[in-house]
Amino acid sequence: MAILVTGGCGFIGSHTVVELLNAGKDVIVIDNLDNSSEKSLERVKEITGKDVTFYKLDIRDREGLEKLFTDRKDIEGCIHFAGKKAVGESVAFPWEYYENNIGGTLTLIDVMRKHGVKNLIFSSSSTVYGDPDSVPVTEESPVKKCTNPYGSTKAMQETILTDIQHADSEWNIVLLRYFNPIGAHKSGKIGEDPNGIPNNLMPYITQVAVGKLEYLRVFGDDYPTPDGTGIRDYIHVVDLAKGHVCAVNKVMSGTGVNIYNLGTGNGYSVLEIIQAFEKANDVKIPYVIKERREGDIATCYADPKKAYEELGWKAEYDLERMCKDSWRFIRNVSK
Ligand code: WQD
Repeated sequence: MAILVTGGCGFIGSHTVVELLNAGKDVIVIDNLDNSSEKSLERVKEITGKDVTFYKLDIRDREGLEKLFTDRKDIEGCIHFAGKKAVGESVAFPWEYYENNIGGTLTLIDVMRKHGVKNLIFSSSSTVYGDPDSVPVTEESPVKKCTNPYGSTKAMQETILTDIQHADSEWNIVLLRYFNPIGAHKSGKIGEDPNGIPNNLMPYITQVAVGKLEYLRVFGDDYPTPDGTGIRDYIHVVDLAKGHVCAVNKVMSGTGVNIYNLGTGNGYSVLEIIQAFEKANDVKIPYVIKERREGDIATCYADPKKAYEELGWKAEYDLERMCKDSWRFIRNVSK
């Protein structure tokens, strides 16, 4: 039996494919390659020694999905990563985010159910918590109005999947709320290397470290936090990937809808991340304090207890490892 991974050529997707293969699963990847490269699957093969079946396919392509599910009767479930994910871009192009992320997911699940495949793990995000009333956030913390269309598409997809499972109990759904994934596989062969100027903190830091960018802009130092800069729960992408393998086992056991925070439970500020990266890699990261970024919140980090109790999963890698692995990857791709 095979696991279908949508968006499997991306940062989190490719790391998850590695861990699925390591766990002995058969994997099929679809990706429209809008924001990724098929080369990442060549790296996956170098890492695992295993082949992955790949189809260049957009989740909005109903005909293409129909053909896939007709040809591959061995698909037993789906891990759904595919979607647009840049917060700032979503503010500028909301229609494109709703059409792609919501429209694509509706098409995907319609084709799945028509083929009797009703096990799905969804790539959600801590952004659904908005600006939390208290931290650490648990899965019972209220889902709040998101500060950007990207986050809204995540919250809406959670609602869509929950409603569908409520109407048809044959569906088994796991919603994984990621905190801030950073780092890279220890081989340095796969990692986060976004096209253009990075939106997120760590890929920006690594491009400063490798000389592609001159300095880091720290978006605000007047937040109600110990050093005034934003606090987040950074989690190693390999830990996150392993969480998906645990979720596959859970979803196949027939479980209704289950929500899990995938975070470490530790919050670090922007300045602490800069210091940790400099110390781990013996490099200097010049930075300038700038105005707050629209839509940012002060503090968010997870209570990951439920994932440990119900999935037997918890994050293992520390911040130093995240920084070292990020640095190794960016040096590899910048050669
Ligand atoms: C982290 C901290 C910034 C860049 C978003 C999405 C989330 C997920 C991860 C997709 C904040 C500060 C950042 C920079 C900075 N996305 N920062 N200078 O906003 O917590 O989460 O990305 O999966 O769903 O909501 O992540 O890395 O952009 O920001 O000072 O150049 O770093 O203000 O405090 P964020 P981030």
